[in-house]
Amino acid sequence: MNKKIGIFDSGIGGTTTLKEIVKLLPNEDFIYYKDSKNNPYGEKKDEELYKIVSNIVEYLIKEDVKLIVIACNTATTKCISKLRDNYKDMIFVGTEPAIKVACDNNFKNTLVMATPATISSERTHELIINNKKEFENIILLSCDGLANAIEINNQDKIDYLLHKYLDKYKNDNIDAVVLGCTHYPLIKDKIKNYFKNAKLIDGNIGVAKQVKYQLETHNLLNKNNKKGSIQFVE
Ligand code: DGL
Repeated sequence: MNKKIGIFDSGIGGTTTLKEIVKLLPNEDFIYYKDSKNNPYGEKKDEELYKIVSNIVEYLIKEDVKLIVIACNTATTKCISKLRDNYKDMIFVGTEPAIKVACDNNFKNTLVMATPATISSERTHELIINNKKEFENIILLSCDGLANAIEINNQDKIDYLLHKYLDKYKNDNIDAVVLGCTHYPLIKDKIKNYFKNAKLIDGNIGVAKQVKYQLETHNLLNKNNKKGSIQFVE
């Protein structure tokens, strides 16, 4: 029997990742763990977050998944190394702020929007050190509360927070905005209003390609031609 791909996030954000994976791998079956009850991840202490995330991983392992996608920048930047150490037989694909993509494309002023935990993570700073060229300017912007406002669909709060965080960068010639939280593509149009000429970048296509690559490498792709299924759990 074909095994499923496990995928999780602190709620609906990871569906933006799931969408890209399904586009690339339409025959795969998925089990999506929507952990809204623990949203927001981005405002949790490291230990607490690891505990939450490892419980989900154990649940998905019991469901006999063949690969786990961490469809969350926060959980990836904070927990993926420890998860790989502690669950050596599982293949993990993570989601990171697409800072490398912005740097590879030579944007001059890149604004990285992410949760407080992602912004302060070592991994985010490593991505900048490893990829930034001298002429590139990268601004890190911690968007406290935004993922949660999106999760609970509070449009007034989303508008208020975008105004609070983005207004001051409006005239800074921002040419790229990295959406460093999987919830943010859900409000892409609103963010675009602040930076009409900027390219909005998220890591979801890269994640989908990496999932495909890992399944191919481990000979785990579903071989049938039947449209795959998605099961949501929470
Ligand atoms: N969607 C998540 C991310 O990519 C986390 C949001 C949160 O729960 O704080 O970072």
